[in-house]
Amino acid sequence: ATSSRAGGLERVFRGTFIHSTPDAALQILEDALLGVDSVGKVCHIYPPPPPRCEFFMPGLVDTHIHAPQYSYAGTGLDMPLLEWLKTYTFPAESCFHDLDLARRVYTQVVRRTLKNGTTTACYFATIHTDASLLLCQITDVFGQRGLVGKVCMDRNDSLPRYSETSQESQAETCRFIEELLNKQYPLVKPVVTPRFALSCTGALLGQLGAIAKKNNLHIQSHISENPEEVKLVKELFPEAESYTDVYHRHNLLTDKTVMAHGCYLTDQELDLFHETGAALSHCPNSNISLRSGVLNVRNVLRHKVKLGLGTDVAGGYSSSMLDTMRRTLDVSKILGTLDPDYHSLTMEEVFRLATLGGSQALSMDQQIGNFEVGKDFDALRVNVKVPDGPVDLFQRDQPKVGDDWNIVEVFVAGRKVVPFSDPSNLAVQS
Ligand code: GUN
Ligand code: FE
Repeated sequence: ATSSRAGGLERVFRGTFIHSTPDAALQILEDALLGVDSVGKVCHIYPPPPPRCEFFMPGLVDTHIHAPQYSYAGTGLDMPLLEWLKTYTFPAESCFHDLDLARRVYTQVVRRTLKNGTTTACYFATIHTDASLLLCQITDVFGQRGLVGKVCMDRNDSLPRYSETSQESQAETCRFIEELLNKQYPLVKPVVTPRFALSCTGALLGQLGAIAKKNNLHIQSHISENPEEVKLVKELFPEAESYTDVYHRHNLLTDKTVMAHGCYLTDQELDLFHETGAALSHCPNSNISLRSGVLNVRNVLRHKVKLGLGTDVAGGYSSSMLDTMRRTLDVSKILGTLDPDYHSLTMEEVFRLATLGGSQALSMDQQIGNFEVGKDFDALRVNVKVPDGPVDLFQRDQPKVGDDWNIVEVFVAGRKVVPFSDPSNLAVQS
């Protein structure tokens, strides 16, 4: 308890006060204020503040999201992965040579994810370098922390116009990295981004591995998402021991690598992830929506593989990490109903995956992920009180009820980025 002189009062005491009243044998007033006047009488007793309906939590880390796919999020989820890519994704992404389209969609996705509490996003853009640089600029203007990749694919039989030569892909990746680094955006970094093994030749994978190594860059891709994909990768790379080995032999598995999905990885492959320090991004909405598969998160954690969560828009239809958290719980509970020996994840574990886990998966845990001294202040101010009554965003048994309307303020590196400042300040230059 503390005391101090104040105004017309002689003294104010702050602390927990315990006394008896006619109604209560013992009344405990925690964190109350008590004023004493100049003649020594109690002149005020300020009751303790009402139960706080607000708290701060670390910003959410989306370790896998496709920015251009926000343009059709919530549609076209009636096919498995490879047909879905061919039918919806490649045609949609091929339009992003158009910088006006890119500016519109990328502004929407950055604003939406920030409002949803995503302070750090690891983005796939498209094969178009200038539009990818525009995504970096928009991320910088709105103040989101971003890892951004220009997508590389020198193999696309299903839509040849949405493809590059190996030479172009390599040269444009170098241009993307160089131009982005020259901009010196404080919170935006380049990621070397082979789309996945099926859309890249071994030659390109090797070149990208070398570029990442030379510049010590992050790497992102997809792995072992869908059974048909896994089968085709084996056929395309018969010399590789596994899907994971395809990336490993091209120097694409490092402690700055994050691979999305991994539903069908073997224990041996998970060991290789652990040994190389490569991370996985768990994307449950996408895995369900495209009926790709189920990731056994408990097994991944048992192998001590770094793990974060990802929305995987638009394979996942929601751009909200709160949705991803709920789906992570749901999938894990389903595994628990199927196998009584399976220990379903707890809400607390899922909270960690969405924050600290994400920061570890992106090798940024020295900088973000929790409130340890020395880290950047990436935070959400959450209000769990709504007009209809109290709602607990992270209540143990009902983590379903909170939403972006509970996120009152968002901070990245100490700067308040939500609510948005005057839109005119945020005009993105051409
Ligand atoms: N594998 C290769 N490309 C993609 C993509 O855009 N989304 C998903 N979910 N998987 C992929
Ligand atoms: Fe993806």
